Amino acid sequence: MHIKFASKPSGDALGVAVYEKAALSPSAKALDDASGGTLTRAIKASRFTGDAGQVLEIAAPSGLKAARVVLYGLGAKKQVTGNVYEKAVAAAVKHLLLGGTQTLSLHIDAEDGELSSRAALGASLAAYRFDQYRSRLKADRKPSLGTVEIVAADDKAAKKAWKSWEPVAEGVKLARDFVMEPANILYPEEYAKRISKLEKEGLEIEVLGEAQMKKLGMGSLLGVSQGSVREAKLVIMRWNGGKEGDKPLAFVGKGVTFDTGGISLKPGPGMEEMKGDMGGSAAVVGLMRALAGRKAKVNVVGVVALVENMPDGNAQRPGDIVTSMSGQTIEILNTDAEGRLVLADALWYTQEKYDPAFIVDLATLTGAILIALGHEHAGIFSNDDKLADRMFAAGKASDEGVWRLPVGPEYDRQIDSDIADMKNLGQGRNAGSIAAAVFLQRFVNGKPWVHIDIAGTAMHSGSKDPRQPAFGTGYGVRLLDRFVRDYYEN
Ligand code: BES
Ligand code: MN
Ligand code: ZN
Repeated sequence: MHIKFASKPSGDALGVAVYEKAALSPSAKALDDASGGTLTRAIKASRFTGDAGQVLEIAAPSGLKAARVVLYGLGAKKQVTGNVYEKAVAAAVKHLLLGGTQTLSLHIDAEDGELSSRAALGASLAAYRFDQYRSRLKADRKPSLGTVEIVAADDKAAKKAWKSWEPVAEGVKLARDFVMEPANILYPEEYAKRISKLEKEGLEIEVLGEAQMKKLGMGSLLGVSQGSVREAKLVIMRWNGGKEGDKPLAFVGKGVTFDTGGISLKPGPGMEEMKGDMGGSAAVVGLMRALAGRKAKVNVVGVVALVENMPDGNAQRPGDIVTSMSGQTIEILNTDAEGRLVLADALWYTQEKYDPAFIVDLATLTGAILIALGHEHAGIFSNDDKLADRMFAAGKASDEGVWRLPVGPEYDRQIDSDIADMKNLGQGRNAGSIAAAVFLQRFVNGKPWVHIDIAGTAMHSGSKDPRQPAFGTGYGVRLLDRFVRDYYEN
């Protein structure tokens, strides 16, 4: 999707805003007048009221040159925010994407460039498609809409604001692509190669292979990888846009490119979704892409642990005991609780090597978080109230919501093992997401930390949010970008 900015419309479709109770925005009013009341009549003939997210398409409007007019609802004028714009415009774009329109000129009824650029972000996110494996897609099933032209009073300001949001759109799309890719294509080595291409955006990138990880003592991560013929990789991305000497912020992502469960094999139905078990890593890579693209004034390190969890003759067994980089030993009771094993070494490495101000990790870690929160919120877990509060606020601001669950000694006790320092399971089926979180907590060495369990939000096939495609949502990129933008830059 090509996004451009103009002060006058040139597209074959015109988009204009309508507020609740069918109150026309100035640009809608102007079109209504020019067309002898066509918009008003169309509204009367429909159930369109201007509520946020509603769309009404008027084809071949009399008295106008444009082939189409599209009304997009913004709801109550006082409650219009960047998220309202994103969703409203996304709904309009989704509506027009395949219908023959080539360029949508979108009139934005807002003075500041920020809201205009959020409209552009909504358009960009809604236009996302993952079509590269459809080799027989008929021409009339491909998107016709190639350009969204933002028409704003101050198009210069809008264009300028877009410089800070376009990289976020690119980061989200990159994360979605990674989650969508099947695991026969995107295995750790190939994934690391694709991440390395981001050097051209200005990121410093380092890739560690299994020999290096073995030297570092990463027995926990490598135990997961040992049943796969694919070599595990640890990829470190650095963005140094802040002051020299300022401690970096650290973001760590689970990148299990496919999770069969290992010897504790998962059931067959739905297992294909486990190609998305690298959603945490995708969010971290997408964030780094966004920060580099908008030249964020902050020092950040992103670490992603890329591993395939497979059950072959060399695979790790239930009952095995591994020694992590921290020196702590872990009894493996279920090889399907592999995410925490992979993150254990990635977290320890990150805190030891980079001495970050804090660590945020993202992982599609537990099915239990879906039971607790569904697809609507990610679960957060933290040893630091201020960090957790900031993440919550960033969730609200970005519309990528999070909800906090507890960690504490009463839970931590449950992962003590009879034979090693800890086991990789909690007590039975209860509090499964918390058991995973307290496990991770043992590997952050007391550093301020937030864990985000995105098993429900990174993959979502039936979302009603027009900004989201089916399956890989790119969840986390906008949340983390917002978190960094609002609290750690200036
Ligand atoms: N990758 C899964 C968690 C998951 C489940 C992600 C559903 C997305 C959708 C994770 O590695 C896993 O298998 N967790 C187990 C842990 C259990 C064995 C303690 C789970 O949630 O069942
Ligand atoms: Mn698993
Ligand atoms: Zn997993």
